[in-house]
Amino acid sequence: MDLKAWLFFVSAIAILGHSKLAAAQNHHARRELAADIPGFISIDCGSDEDYLNEATGISYKSDKEMIDTGIAMTVFSDFGNIERRLLRSLRSFPNGTRNCYTLRPEQSKYNNYLVRATFGYGNYDGKNMTPTFDLYLGPNRWDTVNPETPVYYEIIYAPSTDYIDVCLVDTGHGVPFISTLELRRLDNSIYQIDEDVALSVHRYSIGMKTTELRIRYPDDVYDRYWNPFPYDNPWNPIATNSAIYTKGNDNPYKVPAKVLQTAATTMNASIPLSYYWSPPDSLSKYSFNFHFAEIEKLGAGQQREMTIDLNGDRKLAESVKLDYLKPLTLVQGDPPINGSLVQFSIIATEGTKFPPILNALEVFVLRELPNKPTAVGDVEAIMEIKELYSVTRNWQGDPCVPSNFSWDGLNCSNDNPPRIISLNLSSSKLAGEIAASFSNLKALQSLDLSYNDLTGPFPDVLAQLPYLNTLDLSGNKLTGSVPEALVQRSMDGKFALRVGDNPDLCLQLAPCKRKKKNKLVIPIVASSIIAVLVLLSTFAALAIYRRKRKRVAKSNIKSQSRRYSYSEVVSITNNFKTIIGRGGFGSVYLGTLKDDTQVAVKLLSPSSNQGYKEFQAEAQLLIVVHHRNLVSLVGYCDEGDQKKALIYEYMSNGNLQQQLSVTNTCVLKWNERLHIAVDAAHGLEYLHNGCKPPIIHRDLKTSNILLNEHMQAKIADFGLSRAFVNENDSHVSTRPAGTLGYLDPGFQASRIFNKKSDVYSFGIILFELITGQPAIVRGPVKNIHISEWINPLIERGDIQNIVDPRLEGAFNTNSAWKAVEIAMSCIAPVAIERPDMSNVLAELKECLAQERSQMIATKGLSKRTPSELESEFAPHAR
Ligand SMILES: *[C@@H]1O[C@H](CO)[C@@H](O)[C@H](O)[C@H]1NC(C)=O
Ligand SMILES: *[C@@H]1O[C@H](CO)[C@@H](O)[C@H](O)[C@H]1NC(C)=O
Ligand SMILES: *[C@@H]1O[C@H](CO)[C@@H](O)[C@H](O)[C@H]1NC(C)=O
Ligand SMILES: *[C@@H]1O[C@H](CO)[C@@H](O)[C@H](O)[C@H]1NC(C)=O
Ligand SMILES: *[C@@H]1O[C@H](CO)[C@@H](O)[C@H](O)[C@H]1NC(C)=O
Ligand SMILES: *[C@@H]1O[C@H](CO)[C@@H](O)[C@H](O)[C@H]1NC(C)=O
Repeated sequence: MDLKAWLFFVSAIAILGHSKLAAAQNHHARRELAADIPGFISIDCGSDEDYLNEATGISYKSDKEMIDTGIAMTVFSDFGNIERRLLRSLRSFPNGTRNCYTLRPEQSKYNNYLVRATFGYGNYDGKNMTPTFDLYLGPNRWDTVNPETPVYYEIIYAPSTDYIDVCLVDTGHGVPFISTLELRRLDNSIYQIDEDVALSVHRYSIGMKTTELRIRYPDDVYDRYWNPFPYDNPWNPIATNSAIYTKGNDNPYKVPAKVLQTAATTMNASIPLSYYWSPPDSLSKYSFNFHFAEIEKLGAGQQREMTIDLNGDRKLAESVKLDYLKPLTLVQGDPPINGSLVQFSIIATEGTKFPPILNALEVFVLRELPNKPTAVGDVEAIMEIKELYSVTRNWQGDPCVPSNFSWDGLNCSNDNPPRIISLNLSSSKLAGEIAASFSNLKALQSLDLSYNDLTGPFPDVLAQLPYLNTLDLSGNKLTGSVPEALVQRSMDGKFALRVGDNPDLCLQLAPCKRKKKNKLVIPIVASSIIAVLVLLSTFAALAIYRRKRKRVAKSNIKSQSRRYSYSEVVSITNNFKTIIGRGGFGSVYLGTLKDDTQVAVKLLSPSSNQGYKEFQAEAQLLIVVHHRNLVSLVGYCDEGDQKKALIYEYMSNGNLQQQLSVTNTCVLKWNERLHIAVDAAHGLEYLHNGCKPPIIHRDLKTSNILLNEHMQAKIADFGLSRAFVNENDSHVSTRPAGTLGYLDPGFQASRIFNKKSDVYSFGIILFELITGQPAIVRGPVKNIHISEWINPLIERGDIQNIVDPRLEGAFNTNSAWKAVEIAMSCIAPVAIERPDMSNVLAELKECLAQERSQMIATKGLSKRTPSELESEFAPHAR
């Protein structure tokens, strides 16, 4: 055998021909004018317009509408051949590791497609440095692109999805780019391929001159590229002008007549037509299609007869006989060939006088597709989400695979196919309603859509996601109600639910009623007045601000409540070692979580005089209500009668009662007191006006105002709280509630609780802050209520004796008087005359501003930044 070794370039085939523009092909262009060819998608990347390619009659589309990343560029060098127009523009991708085109043919699933990507560098960036990068077909690596000269990569596969992703991956060797991208639907009866394999193809028209243009559409109905055989060989080219039987022949490969009209033979029948080569690795697998047609007139009754050998021993075909001008295809598919040497020989059968012939050859390199794309339903849902909310992230290509390119903000399972199990689009500027698409992410375990501009009703469907265990919708503008079932599920420990900071969301602890339209006017007017007030005081504060103490707006504690087992509670509290307080439920213990976060653990004692109902109410409220001035729930335990506990963030500075007590040597300064008042007012204002329906605390007192390490105040103890259906509703209580000294005197008579009862209690707290006296002042003869104690001093205008003597006069008289006035208005005997908490809050902020202006006048300007100020003054900010 005459074996002539030649190197087979498996990666790619150079495009650059030597030919001139083929004028001969131009007549075809007119036939197809601009009409889209069924099954074809043709994209000229970086082109600014769609156009008809004259040489082929194929319409190319600009990729402007198809991809939102990359930059359209024009090449520097003119390729000067038929591809000129196609290679002139390209799209380059300086940003992002992976950039993808998503092609959506009419019916891609399980149909055969040819995908072809073409790359012509042409020094478009003026750097004269050809980049190399990776090409991916969906989640699988396809090849490394090395466009030293213009190259194309072609692959055939049957996608398992309704779309085809073609991705360019930056591997750190220059900026990826692409010139054209083409998709061609193929007949399913040819190139039969398994689901997890793709075929890289090299296609040769044997006997064609290397100076000729390669053959493609419209000669090839599938627009396959047929190239001249570029390597040296000892064959005799032959050709014919006679027509090949293309019509009515049953060869489904539809090899173009033009391709079959040329062929090669050897010198004589004793010389086989052979090739062999060394593949780059012995694991790569190859297969062949041999295409024949007799193009020599051999005389009546005469026939060529051949055998095809693979790798020396395997016979592909024993006796191949050819008919004049009739196409014949021999497919070598299974099993594919591999090894250090790959070869085939076409041998004339013994005793025949005609040498072997070959008209065309297709060489396939099998590419495994090991990575399964993300489950189809998940991809559809997440694509809808991406489009609906115009998500601008690295959301390109397959969401989950390969894992190092998975999309920002989501995590996937390792299943086959992978599923999206968590999605975090917190603070992503999502607007509009929560789309049903979210509920199509069926494997979702965690969904975080907090701090967006989402509106519309609370989406019930999310509750039906079977695996969902974390749902955070806080900080949006959702309306409607949180379904009770969902609150219950979170109580049962089935998931962590967070829906705080949604001013119009109803909590469903009480039945919901819709607000009447005409009632809206008043709140809007009122709230704009408040907004103006807040704005004014913010400006005032910005202009004149000074603070010594550093305050942190956000709690460090992750307040995503979770369920703990009793044994965990025992270990968290170190077997209930340190008692830090006693509440209505029982004792409160110091605890430490695994991550060293300190917590306060409130254990429900069996003898508790409040009992399970309040315990439950408190947990329910804290799960759904979140505000930086409300103490937040870290978790809870609900195991049997004796084993119930609520776990809160730890407030290291205890409660306000302790801070104000005579035994405390570290006296709260005047401005600290005002800050505490503003904080507490914030928290209460949120309960009243930020929650729909409003929540009435019912047991506000200094011992329920807790202070963290930054002396930030938070309201605690929601055990008696109630949510009310609407602003004017009130609650008739038949049970004792509240604490002596703080209890609205009106309640004694009416037994009615409403917001104004809380305002009364707040007024008392304010008096305590101002005076340092407790709500019930111990007198030498009898104990008197703080309001009785203070009244005569107010009448005398004796501010020096009103304000806590421990301050030793270190306060601003104006702000002190203002605080007294606010407190007085809060405890007005007639409930209707007491202000709403929003007014109280605004007035207190003004009071604080006055205090600051005084401090600036005496001590100079503040170092605090405006953003710190804003966060403090932003209503409902956490
Ligand atoms: C790439 O990123 C830079 C900076 O992040 C940005 O200015 C530029 O517009 C981005 N370019 C493209 C094509 O997206
Ligand atoms: C075929 O060609 C080879 C080489 O040119 C020659 O050696 C051989 O004799 C020829 N055989 C026949 C049967 O003509
Ligand atoms: C062909 O590939 C298989 C693995 O798929 C390998 O086991 C075998 O050794 C290879 N054959 C040769 C000749 O290298
Ligand atoms: C992604 O991961 C694959 C396999 O782990 C690795 O070969 C490839 O280099 C990685 N690509 C990037 C860009 O990190
Ligand atoms: C994904 O998992 C990583 C590591 O476990 C975690 O840090 C990240 O927050 C998760 N992302 C989402 C969206 O859940
Ligand atoms: C979502 O991301 C934000 C910001 O990166 C983070 O604070 C939050 O904890 C994440 N949510 C979940 C559920 O992991």
